[in-house]
Amino acid sequence: MTLQPKPPRSRLDPEPMPRRDWLGLSGLWSMGGALLFGMFGMLKLPKAAVLASPSKKFKVTLPETLAAGEAFVPSGRSVAVFRDAEGVHAISTICTHLGCVVKPGAEGFECPCHGSRFHHDGSVSRGPAPRALPWLKVSVSGGILTVDEGTTVPSGTKVA
Ligand code: FES
Repeated sequence: MTLQPKPPRSRLDPEPMPRRDWLGLSGLWSMGGALLFGMFGMLKLPKAAVLASPSKKFKVTLPETLAAGEAFVPSGRSVAVFRDAEGVHAISTICTHLGCVVKPGAEGFECPCHGSRFHHDGSVSRGPAPRALPWLKVSVSGGILTVDEGTTVPSGTKVA
């Protein structure tokens, strides 16, 4: 029996790649891909991950038409500002029960979440809120009102 030589393979039917070469090449491609993803990750690192929060102090301009005892709620703030004959004061509109934003109205403040009600001075008229709404510091400088949401003052404190 004679051994027949294999016919030469054509370009359309190439020699299969040995397993060892295939594993080596796939390992190289994997390392290259991991390196590329790592570089993209490093490019994202310098970006700030924390957003700036708005200042607790803000200036308020009360409308001329604001009636005595009527609440003015500055846009984007959880504060109701009042003006009457004794001066200006600000009350937080964050409910002391679980932190919902209360709505000022003719009867005082009403919490839409669990039904707490507060008098005009922030004291509780109906629970479950455990405490009165805190009064916030208001200061006047050069005719400009500044409310500090981060500082509470005793109830009844008004600035002229
Ligand atoms: S959060 Fe206002 S009553 Fe519960």
